[in-house]
Amino acid sequence: MNVLLIIPCLVIFWLAFDFYIKNKSKSKNDPKGPIALPIIGHLHLLGDKPHLSLTRLSQQYGGIFKIWIGDHYTIIVTCPDLMKKIFIKHSESFLNRPHPKSFGIYSNNFIGLAFVDKDDWKVTRKLVATAFTKTKIKTTSDILDNQIKLLIDEMNSFEKSNEIFYPNRSLRKFATNIILKMVFSKEISANENENEGILSKFIEAIQLAVNKLGSGNPEDVISFFSYFSFYSNIKFKKQVDEIRSFLKDIYDQHVETLNPENPRDLFDQMIICSQGKDVDTIIQVGMDFLMAGSDTVSATLEWIMIYMINYPNEQEIAYNELINLVNEKQSKQITLDDRSKTPYLNAIIKEVLRMKTTAPLSVPRQCSEDITIDDYFIPKGTRVIQNIYGLGNSELYVGPDYKEFRPTRFMGKDGASDIDKLVGSQYFGIGPRSCIGESLGVFELFLASSNILLNFQLSSCDGKLIDDTEIFGITIHPKTPLKICLKSRNEK
Ligand code: HEM
Repeated sequence: MNVLLIIPCLVIFWLAFDFYIKNKSKSKNDPKGPIALPIIGHLHLLGDKPHLSLTRLSQQYGGIFKIWIGDHYTIIVTCPDLMKKIFIKHSESFLNRPHPKSFGIYSNNFIGLAFVDKDDWKVTRKLVATAFTKTKIKTTSDILDNQIKLLIDEMNSFEKSNEIFYPNRSLRKFATNIILKMVFSKEISANENENEGILSKFIEAIQLAVNKLGSGNPEDVISFFSYFSFYSNIKFKKQVDEIRSFLKDIYDQHVETLNPENPRDLFDQMIICSQGKDVDTIIQVGMDFLMAGSDTVSATLEWIMIYMINYPNEQEIAYNELINLVNEKQSKQITLDDRSKTPYLNAIIKEVLRMKTTAPLSVPRQCSEDITIDDYFIPKGTRVIQNIYGLGNSELYVGPDYKEFRPTRFMGKDGASDIDKLVGSQYFGIGPRSCIGESLGVFELFLASSNILLNFQLSSCDGKLIDDTEIFGITIHPKTPLKICLKSRNEK
């Protein structure tokens, strides 16, 4: 047969076979799902905002449904009951993460905390949790108070010189400095421009890693494309290796100067707890903290600012709550002890997290054995996506006004409201593998937003509403770089 004829025949056979495999039932108890195309599966349905597309699909196919993301059979879970059954009750079967190429490059072949598999994860998570608990609360709150002060000082200098304030840079510096201080006792100094200096280079590399991991690379989901990503992966590996070698130097300095009686930071605590054995793991955990703990917090703070500008009445209610509190306690800085006294601000933060869920599809998991949950069969190897965004943005779970920004939905008469109990606890994931930095993240969001709103009235520079379109990634970001005008709330 003519070679020119064989090739198209093979391609047609391959497409037909792939179509058959993707649409063949795995059991009679499969979740429902749309028809899959060969090779791409359902990638064409996801578009550039997969959290919105998957939420629309969940309205059509239900709180659990199946799709193919390229080569990977995946279930999307939006129903809160099923989320609890999967991630809490049957958590043992869902502790693994998928292994796309970019996760492997970033995590030094799946070590550390964020991308490691079940058995090693249990050991590392215990090590990190123990080290975290031993890090004194006083030290953490001192770091937070100090970074808040620096942030407010920086904003004051913009306000005094009537300059437009671009929050992204300052908020990233704020959130990154907290992790740098807590984990390594390092920081970007107040006068160091984050576009210069060694730490800045390092932050840029972390940012590139976040982008690479979050962009849903075709080569990560369709194995055929991995042949085309050879050079881009070499470049990515080089960047990641630079971060790793930078952290190795910090690790070595820590070992040389370690005083077991007086640990300075999380690195010291981890070195002590692991008796200096797990060098590579500890360095990777440091990277995981920087990647997971800075971008998430700074992006959420940007969204809080956008909503406060677009909803000035809500901004005024929050300000009044804060100024009354400050007048009562005769102190100008809001601290962690005040959190229980600001129910309105707390509700605003939760409402922003609901509407602009920072990690809208969490971080994917992978099923480690065949399992049936509520009559749904989930085979070993299935990727599982927790649709946190969809849960908080559907009429079924939130009510008919789910498109409205209404913080009071999170305020019950005597504590948490029903919606708070259903949705409020999900933003950081649920179950044993949920976010290890949840408390720290919540503290940072509270301290930064309360002190910013107490000190400044925020508004858009052209008097128009700020564009709240998002760019999708592991974390979502405002599409248009945020710029705002500040007016001091302190009488001059
Ligand atoms: C607004 C702030 C934050 C949000 C919304 C957030 C959200 C999340 C989510 C959804 C996950 C995935 C959980 C899962 O698989 O079920 C996660 C994991 C993780 N987060 Fe956060 N996070 C935040 C802040 C932080 C901070 C401040 C840190 C650092 C101290 C941190 C460190 C981590 C780590 C290391 C993981 C991986 C945990 C593991 O696999 O065991 N996060 N986060």
